Amino acid sequence: MDISFERQLIKMIEPLYKKGRNGDWDHILRMVKLCRYLLEHEKADEDIVLPAAYLHDLGWTAIDFSDFNQASPRVKTDSSSFIQHMEQGAVIAGTILSEFKYDTNKIKEIQSIIKVHDLPEIVFKMNNISATLVVEADRLDRYGKTGLARFKTMFGADKLSGQYWEEARQLRIDGLKEWFRTKTAINLSKKLAAEMGLFD
Ligand SMILES: [Fe+2]
Repeated sequence: MDISFERQLIKMIEPLYKKGRNGDWDHILRMVKLCRYLLEHEKADEDIVLPAAYLHDLGWTAIDFSDFNQASPRVKTDSSSFIQHMEQGAVIAGTILSEFKYDTNKIKEIQSIIKVHDLPEIVFKMNNISATLVVEADRLDRYGKTGLARFKTMFGADKLSGQYWEEARQLRIDGLKEWFRTKTAINLSKKLAAEMGLFD
């Protein structure tokens, strides 16, 4: 990814994310790092993966996501803002990348990934390694000590115990089998799951 493009992109989107969901900008920065790590070991197009990582959650900044926050972990995917954030995110990403005169075909590919980025089973069917890495990096950020800290920032410290956490914990345990396809991400997910005490 061209360094000056990356700097300008950050300058444009950081203030947007900071007006959106709590902790999302830090999530984006960690996710970009995770993408870079995956790209070192898996052959994918970084000019797709990295912009998609930077832009994928911008949809949250354009919608009311109170239904998502209020829903219990198992049914968050049923909330209407869950689908909206992907659709809106794809639109916003298109607008931003067009302003930068980014390659039209790459914009379309990035938008197609963002539009479904929280539906791993659909993304994996695309058979597109760049799309796969985006999903894996996004999901990897739900694990590890930083995954725990993020959860606390988003939903509150009281949600780290009781039924709410039990559901979230089980989703992460199941996720180890459902959310990762590449060897690199599978290995890292296991390591981060242990680090956050998922099996204790
Ligand atoms: Fe994300």
